[in-house]
Amino acid sequence: MIFANLDKLPPDPILGVTAAFRADPSRDKIDLGVGVYRDEDGNTPVPAGVREAERTMLADQRTKTYIGPHGNLEFNERIVELALGPVASEVRERTATIQTVGGCGALRSGAELIHASSPGAVVHVSDPTWANHEPLLGTSGLSLARYPYYDPATRGVAFERMLDHFGRLPSGSVVLLHACCHNPTGADMDASQWRAVADVFDARGLVPFVDLAYQGFGDDLETDVVGLRLLATRVPQLLLAMSCSKNFGLYRERTGALAIVAQDANAAAAIATHEARTARRMYSMPPDHGAAIVARLLGNARLRADWESEVRAMVRRMKWLRALLADRLSARRPEVDFSWVTRHRGMFSLVGLERESIVALRSEHHVYVPPDGRINIAGISDGNVDRVADAIVAVLD
Ligand code: LMR
Repeated sequence: MIFANLDKLPPDPILGVTAAFRADPSRDKIDLGVGVYRDEDGNTPVPAGVREAERTMLADQRTKTYIGPHGNLEFNERIVELALGPVASEVRERTATIQTVGGCGALRSGAELIHASSPGAVVHVSDPTWANHEPLLGTSGLSLARYPYYDPATRGVAFERMLDHFGRLPSGSVVLLHACCHNPTGADMDASQWRAVADVFDARGLVPFVDLAYQGFGDDLETDVVGLRLLATRVPQLLLAMSCSKNFGLYRERTGALAIVAQDANAAAAIATHEARTARRMYSMPPDHGAAIVARLLGNARLRADWESEVRAMVRRMKWLRALLADRLSARRPEVDFSWVTRHRGMFSLVGLERESIVALRSEHHVYVPPDGRINIAGISDGNVDRVADAIVAVLD
């Protein structure tokens, strides 16, 4: 019996919240779990520009023959340009990009490639980090470690401790950085802190592995990648995992890319062959649909402008929701400092609750959050913000 030794696993820390939420018969339940954007009606829309790009792409499509392990090459080019901006042309000759199965596929492919060439490399992830980072990267066989990132007292980045830690890592260490909208804390570095990080990485020969899953969701499409672009000009090698799930609303289309900036063009050419082999051995080729949509959208000035304004509207809404929540929490507990709610960037904030409080949020208030106490700001609305604030203050202490 080949599967006789498999026991039932506990639920996934994030996807399990969605399943539990769906199973709850309460009419007042609130889902602040999985990281999907929601509009005022609680829907996760496909941006109009994305829908139009999809329509015209399908109308023009004449074949569904294979595209190859690297996926849609136009998509690869354009998504790297979106992330790196003017830096993309500076590093183009020494960059090897592969379309991946979402941002998760990019992280895992990157880890597989690091493991194939440097099996002893250690990947350092922030403490805390997204619940799926360690499983995704660690299953490649690489060793993992954590670096200090978050200071619960200030609810900001534990910057001095982090920098000091980086300053003591051995050369060749790989460090996973969240480009923006840190998941789960919501605490991001500012431009001057990114400069200090780039100095240390450069001086110590550390390799950044940048996870860019929320471009445009922090402040805007340019500001959110200031640190990434700086690093790409400062270090000889960089891995970049990109996701089109959130900003293009393409979640289920699993659209992403891995770009590896190498030390020179020869190294990039070799890496490209390994990228293709890694894909071929795991899933052969990525699905085309989402990438073809993004390539078309980014290549069309009107669609791109429409989409950019939709991203701006999404981030405006999330900032407004943050202000609304901070206001309602402060009204209930004026003596508590809730300014972190508006200081944080992106979809998430760590509320900083004990395990029992997180359980009580669900069992007593029907408010669903992952076990680390992260809330998805986009799950809040005008209609439920008072219930969310009531629930949070009820379990605060
Ligand atoms: C999240 O953090 O909730 C999202 O990135 C969705 C996921 O796959 O966990």
